Amino acid sequence: MIIYVALAVAVFCLYALWKIVLPAVSNARSGRPDLSKKAQLNVLITGASKGLGFNMAKKFVQLKHNVVICARSKESVENAVVELNKLDGGKAYGTTCDISVEKELLDLAAFAKQNMGELNLWINNAGSTGYVLCNV
Ligand SMILES: NC(=O)c1ccc[n+]([C@@H]2O[C@H](COP(=O)([O-])OP(=O)(O)OC[C@H]3O[C@@H](n4cnc5c(N)ncnc54)[C@H](OP(=O)(O)O)[C@@H]3O)[C@@H](O)[C@H]2O)c1
Repeated sequence: MIIYVALAVAVFCLYALWKIVLPAVSNARSGRPDLSKKAQLNVLITGASKGLGFNMAKKFVQLKHNVVICARSKESVENAVVELNKLDGGKAYGTTCDISVEKELLDLAAFAKQNMGELNLWINNAGSTGYVLCNV
């Protein structure tokens, strides 16, 4: 009987180590915040009026997270935001931004902060290596 109890305790400890301790240590080491316990995230996705970016935005909104999307075309951003806000989930906001223009990126960050507050995830779906990203 004692052996079975000891075995059960050992299995439980291993499970806790694998599921709780190791991920926490890994996050602490990398300096990344642990987002897994946050019920609602504020997410910014660049180039998200269509394609992969839009579909990621859809998924986040369906999971009740808030999103800011951007693209260069005002009309397509507006249409995408309308579509996202039709879903029963988080709130979507959108603005125009050409991610190759540093000033527009700064404005995008300000727009996200103004509408959602603290930003938890920034997804560079439309990306550029032509500038150094500001500290946001
Ligand atoms: N689809 C694939 O199979 C695949 C595979 C590997 C990698 N990727 C990469 O994944 C990313 C998205 O692909 P996708 O197929 O979803 O592309 P997509 O359908 O053409 O959508 C691109 C999105 O990015 C926006 N965009 C383009 N240039 C931009 C800029 N300078 N600033 C801000 N927004 C911009 C577009 O809107 P506007 O034109 O209005 O700005 C649009 O919303 C791309 O970087 C692509 O290279 C895609």
